[in-house]
Amino acid sequence: DLGGQFPPGFKFGAGTSSYQVEGAWNVSDKGVNILDKFVHDHPTSIKDLSNGDVACDSYHNWERDVEMAAELGLDYYRFSLSWSRILPTGFPNKISKDGVKYYNKLINGLQAKGIEAMVTIYHWDLPLPLQELGGWTNPLIADWFEDYARVVYTQFGDRVKLWLTVNEPISFCDGSYNTGVGAPGVLSPDVGAYICNKHVLLAHAKAWRLYDKEFRPKFNGRVSLANNLLWIEPYSEEYTDLAELALQNSAGRYSHPIFSEAGGWPPGVEEVIAKVCLEKGYPRSTFPSFSKEEIELVKGTYDYYGMNHYTSRLIREAHPDEKLLPWPYGDAPDLKAKMTVSDKWPATVVPWFYVNPKGIRKQLAWLKQQYGDLEIMITENGFPTYHGLNDTARIDYYKKNLKQILLSINKDGVNVTHYTAWSLMDNFEWADGYTTKFGLYEVDFNDPKRTRTPRESAIYYASVIKNRSLDIPSNTTKPK
Ligand code: FCB
Repeated sequence: DLGGQFPPGFKFGAGTSSYQVEGAWNVSDKGVNILDKFVHDHPTSIKDLSNGDVACDSYHNWERDVEMAAELGLDYYRFSLSWSRILPTGFPNKISKDGVKYYNKLINGLQAKGIEAMVTIYHWDLPLPLQELGGWTNPLIADWFEDYARVVYTQFGDRVKLWLTVNEPISFCDGSYNTGVGAPGVLSPDVGAYICNKHVLLAHAKAWRLYDKEFRPKFNGRVSLANNLLWIEPYSEEYTDLAELALQNSAGRYSHPIFSEAGGWPPGVEEVIAKVCLEKGYPRSTFPSFSKEEIELVKGTYDYYGMNHYTSRLIREAHPDEKLLPWPYGDAPDLKAKMTVSDKWPATVVPWFYVNPKGIRKQLAWLKQQYGDLEIMITENGFPTYHGLNDTARIDYYKKNLKQILLSINKDGVNVTHYTAWSLMDNFEWADGYTTKFGLYEVDFNDPKRTRTPRESAIYYASVIKNRSLDIPSNTTKPK
């Protein structure tokens, strides 16, 4: 049983993000962003001492990127906009003509091949001048983000109909404003993460409401955000409540305020975190509440659910001798100390990633049970390898995950409408640099031209797209 057909109208895409692929970090009047600064100031934070200065050089190779999207037969290509490429100061006092031109070429190039653009407005590359004003810890960022969103809706909204305001706020809030491992490298355990969490929700909400009011009437597009959902299961029945709390403290903190009927922080979490803050001597303001107005502002600001999903964890009371595998986010109730993995889940080349395909189906069911019958777009799903074109493990991952998604659609009645493979091509994988590869296309980073070559998985994915099912002829040929 391969799960059946994908429903008519189901769409397939592949994704990238600006900092990870564009390069051209200082061309023209582009401003400096937090990633540019972080990788230059802290080269040893990146495994291979590399950076994204050139990356895949998609700034110059965009035509090849469009060609690859067409070779795969993608319905849409997900990419992100570099805030400081468009607004060099971070503010709309100056709009870069070259920045706008670059994205126009890309969007028009896709359109010419009948490929839609799914555009992420923010994928972690905050303009440095805004970070110097506090970045995501300054409440005014909600307005700065809205101003930036206005610029990009105005410039690209006639052709872009699928928008994501922010990518994985849990990663850049609970990650980067907590442990300091990612840009901007703020070390502020317990505090920074929650402040960022609240502000990013307000920023998303303002950008969504702006679209709804001023741009939807003429452009009729759809806006959401991409949340990173780590599926968390109880190790055994006695940990069911703990698993639910962990889900609320990760997925819930970035979903409940937007997608639930009640709005605000998810049930149980506020009490637990407030208690922990208090115990550690922090004032209550470090886990900011929402006012009634803010709850209303944020609630309902979506047109669909954007879900990134890669992997799963088990949760139980920590065993003193055990090497536990934390998810680096969602710190406060010390839940991370209780995360572990199943011995049945195969490991991959990155330490945070174990393969549990059933997790994606359970995660989808959980979303439906929590927030009702939403339209869900899978905005990222993919598998890491080292280099090489013969990537059977990646094919296996895609096949198994797509099968679980089909079961979720056809058996559980979950309304999944889009699937985005991460990634179209190998790219700068944050702290892993270029050592970890997520690409359907391999990129030769020693070649100044950054030549891209399809992997076996690209051929596989192209045939899934063509057949609209996992039941594909065995002798599929290479994309041209
Ligand atoms: C996600 C990020 C994306 C990519 C994948 C592997 O968390 O959104 O940029 O790095 O992981």
